[in-house]
Amino acid sequence: MTPQQIDLVQSSFKKVVPIAGTAADLFYDRLFEIAPDVRPLFPQDLGEQKKKLMAMLSTAVSNLHKLDTILPAVKDLGNRHKGYGVTAAHYAPVGTALLWTLEKGLGADFTPEVRAAWTDTYTALAGVMTGA
Ligand code: HEM
Repeated sequence: MTPQQIDLVQSSFKKVVPIAGTAADLFYDRLFEIAPDVRPLFPQDLGEQKKKLMAMLSTAVSNLHKLDTILPAVKDLGNRHKGYGVTAAHYAPVGTALLWTLEKGLGADFTPEVRAAWTDTYTALAGVMTGA
């Protein structure tokens, strides 16, 4: 990722932080709409899950410029996901739901450049998590 793309992801994520609760609601609603088969992998009550996801995204986004320092943590996260029953194929709908959520949350600020930067970020994280 280029330094400019990292700036775009970090500055756009700052705009999502104040609406993190709404963004997490939108994300899971969308995910379960496009990939209903993943719903049973999650607990009935998603409250804690929503907080953890936003916290992890926030850590990843703030450390994009030194991705190598969080690589071991991201690999561990990927291994734990296998234990949750998550397969490599599940990463696509999750990425789609994430981009859709950012589009809803950021509106006009979700420019084609911001979309491309987020796509690269998610692809990089998912790649490390699945060991690709
Ligand atoms: C970049 C991609 C992803 C990130 C950053 C992420 C982040 C997290 C985090 C931080 C947790 C909390 C538990 C832990 O730390 O082990 C978690 C749990 C979980 N994630 Fe992900 N995740 C990602 C992709 C996915 C995908 C593709 C799926 C597939 C549906 C998924 C399904 C789950 C499930 C089922 C749990 C466990 C819920 C529970 O039993 O409490 N995640 N995820």
